[in-house]
Amino acid sequence: MASVAHQGSAETIAQFERYVIPNYRRYPVCLVRGEGSYIWDAEGRRYLDFFPGWGCNLLGHCPPRVVEAVREQVGQLIHVPNTWYMEAQGAFAQALSERSFGGQAFFCNSGAEANEAAIKLARLHGHAQGRYKVVTMEDGFHGRTYAALSATAQPKYHAGVEPLVPTIGRRPSWSSRSRGKGGSISLHPSTFPACAGSATSGACC
Ligand SMILES: Cc1ncc(COP(=O)(O)O)c(C=O)c1O
Repeated sequence: MASVAHQGSAETIAQFERYVIPNYRRYPVCLVRGEGSYIWDAEGRRYLDFFPGWGCNLLGHCPPRVVEAVREQVGQLIHVPNTWYMEAQGAFAQALSERSFGGQAFFCNSGAEANEAAIKLARLHGHAQGRYKVVTMEDGFHGRTYAALSATAQPKYHAGVEPLVPTIGRRPSWSSRSRGKGGSISLHPSTFPACAGSATSGACC
């Protein structure tokens, strides 16, 4: 692989401090290259990477088949708006369907958008009966868009941006219950008729 010259980590960090809104806490390391389970920083230090990129990097860094497929695609068409069809998207949807539950895919750009869609689908499902409430668990994280943020039952994410989207019910997660916050989990249909969202808990970004 041809080596590319990089500026030092300190210069990149200074650039971020000047030009990037600091809404994420970052480690003071600028990563420049990855291969399998290893990554390298701008100073040439190699790290063994135990972090799967919030689930986005499960195949490791730069697997050759994926790199080759991406290169081939961006050399043909780099963007196709949703107002047209494209072969690769149809093939991907079919592969997803055949490897999962046989349904149809909804493509979007982020986890938050996926959870927004899940909330809206649940509401569409219950709309005729006036069922609209959504249950999520304390300490979960569902994203930073408004409904996903409202579903994220962690007050530190809400401070200063309230009021939140109404009708998101919250129940203690197993982890908060075990920490002694108490409460019980009630998913009885008459209480919370339409349930959606990724009931994840723990770490968040
Ligand atoms: C469990 C979970 N749901 C939703 C999200 C939001 O995803 P995104 O940042 O792609 O909007 C995250 C992000 O880390 C997440 O960990």
